Amino acid sequence: MRLFVAINFNDETRSRLIALRDELRHKAERGKFSAPENLHLTLVFLGECDAEQTAKTKAAMDAVIFEPLTVTIDRLGRFRRDGGDVWWAGVRQKREDEPLLNLYHDLTDKLIVSGFELEKRKYSPHVTLGREVTTKESPREIESFSETLSAIALMKSERILGKLTYTAIHEKDV
Ligand code: 2AM
Repeated sequence: MRLFVAINFNDETRSRLIALRDELRHKAERGKFSAPENLHLTLVFLGECDAEQTAKTKAAMDAVIFEPLTVTIDRLGRFRRDGGDVWWAGVRQKREDEPLLNLYHDLTDKLIVSGFELEKRKYSPHVTLGREVTTKESPREIESFSETLSAIALMKSERILGKLTYTAIHEKDV
């Protein structure tokens, strides 16, 4: 199974993200835009996992201790790619936003102790709005919006009849 640990948003936050995605889509010359139900914030990407790794991930999630934490989205950005960029809504990274990074470090430390080899890229919290996007838009700050989150979810990623589908297979609440 292809797995990742994510934060899923409530309907209000999701509508704000959909509005950003739609604005971007209207201004873009081309691109593949995320389905509304697929908008999420990845904490850790695990990739292909067998049953034992899946069980270890669930145990690591259950062992994480965290308080409800507020995530604020405050900008639109892109990762440059040949053939079209990845565009995303970015999470504010100020001092008061450290609880998300603490959660990320707590979870990744536990996964590493369990034997996972995780990517060493710096964690850059974002919500992907579109891929292979060509547009004349520039990255910019946006009117910020926030949500206080109290759960993380283990997500399975698969193609069902050609459609990218994410399903929560385990959740850890505060
Ligand atoms: P992305 O949206 O920036 O591609 C499921 O693929 C989730 O895991 C996505 O949020 C994706 O981020 C993230 N992810 C992180 N590293 C990845 C990788 N090496 N391959 C695919 N997805 C990755």
